[in-house]
Amino acid sequence: MRIDILTIFPGMFDGPFRESMIKRAIDQNLVEINPVDLRQYTEDRHHQVDDSPYGGGRGMIFKPEPLYKAVEDLRSDKTRGGNERVILLTPQGDTFNQEKASELADLKHLILICGHYEGVDERVRLGLVEEELSIGDFVLTGGELAAAVVCDAVVRLLPGFLSVEAAENESFTESLLEYPHYTRPAVFRGMEVPAVLLSGNHAEIEHWRRKQSILRTYQRRPELLSKTELKNEDRIYLDTLKNEQSDQNNVL
Ligand SMILES: C[S@@+](CC[C@H](N)C(=O)[O-])C[C@H]1O[C@@H](n2cnc3c(N)ncnc32)[C@H](O)[C@@H]1O
Repeated sequence: MRIDILTIFPGMFDGPFRESMIKRAIDQNLVEINPVDLRQYTEDRHHQVDDSPYGGGRGMIFKPEPLYKAVEDLRSDKTRGGNERVILLTPQGDTFNQEKASELADLKHLILICGHYEGVDERVRLGLVEEELSIGDFVLTGGELAAAVVCDAVVRLLPGFLSVEAAENESFTESLLEYPHYTRPAVFRGMEVPAVLLSGNHAEIEHWRRKQSILRTYQRRPELLSKTELKNEDRIYLDTLKNEQSDQNNVL
């Protein structure tokens, strides 16, 4: 996979991609990540990428010309579509999630556009961008951190990055949150590791983990359960949880 990131601050990516597992993925050629300086696509002496808004008002807006020029230059598939996607990071986009990360991980080339100031000229949305993504309902100063988040979540799903088993059990993979983890020591400040995890009985451990996943999702993100494919025994357990909850509510 190749990921080009259009930005006016390419140096911001030195940190996130030069450490830890993403660095390893780059070193192993699973992915090529190129922060691209948008200013190199300007034609004026000052390399100006922004201008004031028509109609007045505060802030500066990214001009359309440098962004169009950059994307047209970086596109590998000039016919659009296929294995390539041009994505604008914006708080107004669809909320990025694990399902989207997995969809993007199947593509060969991503071009991520990082805005700044008041954002980009509307014609970038209308004629250049294929998708708009937000990393949550808050406003960042620029799209770089959002692009780094998208890259991290996508790259770790590339084939060869995680073991299949690790990816299968993760939070959100089946619209469930992951079960709790423990490591040594078996007792820490009076808190004991659940006995089943020390039992060596793999079937029971799997069973416990599945129930814990359902419990955790029910307690923290119950809306996810409607998207989960539950087995019969999962449903029975979930009904027990719901009944316990309604008993408690009745007592209160
Ligand atoms: C200060 S924001 C502009 C916000 C814009 N005026 C608005 O109200 O929608 C500057 C840039 O940061 C990025 N950004 C801010 N919040 C974001 C979020 N939640 N997700 C993705 N990108 C974001 C976008 O690239 C945006 O163009």
